Amino acid sequence: MGELCRIDKSQNVLVVGCGTGFNACHLARKFGCTLVGVDLAGETIKKANERAENEKLSDTVDFRVGDAYDLPFEADTFDVVITQFVSQFLDMEKAHREFTRVLKKGGRIGINEIFKDREMPPKIAGNILEAERIISEITELPFIIHTSGEWRWCLENAGLKKVEIHKNMEPMSLSEAPQMFRDMGGFGFFLKLIINMTKITLSSKVIRNRFKKMDNAKRILVGAPLIKFATSKHVGYILGVGSKS
Ligand SMILES: C[S@@+](CC[C@H](N)C(=O)[O-])C[C@H]1O[C@@H](n2cnc3c(N)ncnc32)[C@H](O)[C@@H]1O
Repeated sequence: MGELCRIDKSQNVLVVGCGTGFNACHLARKFGCTLVGVDLAGETIKKANERAENEKLSDTVDFRVGDAYDLPFEADTFDVVITQFVSQFLDMEKAHREFTRVLKKGGRIGINEIFKDREMPPKIAGNILEAERIISEITELPFIIHTSGEWRWCLENAGLKKVEIHKNMEPMSLSEAPQMFRDMGGFGFFLKLIINMTKITLSSKVIRNRFKKMDNAKRILVGAPLIKFATSKHVGYILGVGSKS
């Protein structure tokens, strides 16, 4: 995504719906850009700022609470605006109008979101609907998986030019696993993650139920990374980019 958006260290990047800042910090470290991340959830912003501090990125990276529909920035502020697994929870038309507003002329919007095929057997379409329903229920947000044509329309409708949509439907291959493991923080990170998840799961029935539902949705959509379920042949992720003229 960083390469598609041609991020370099002279640029000012906005990540909308940054969560706890894992991907945003990765971008800032890899490309040396200045970066602001916004998210509706105050608790994730607190964690994201802690992460930036721990990773010694506080001079170039800042996280703050903000709403994708009403970004706390002047028009024409950013060289690049990125969303990852966020726009599909939003009214895509309204959100992308706002992303375009804060983008400088010549700047780029990049999206990394799930898509589904336009045509598929009815049984699989039903499975995907069920996964959408489960994820909406867990997140308490509307969740719709769009087709790649709809994502293209979304960027073009926001007035962006030179729109590119790249589809990826490959499950993770075994050869990518070690690099991903290292990028995510290695053995120490995963051990901490497993301990924390076990603590949370044991302490609350509500959370246990949510994990169970999440597992069902994941199984329907992607399956385990190395197993191809029928549904996963019809869903994947897109990298999309367009520039403001
Ligand atoms: C699935 S998470 C993705 C987090 C991160 N982008 C990542 O890839 O790890 C979706 C995030 O979008 C945020 N979000 C949802 N609606 C939003 C809105 N209207 N404005 C800003 N953030 C929003 C949620 O709080 C959540 O952190």
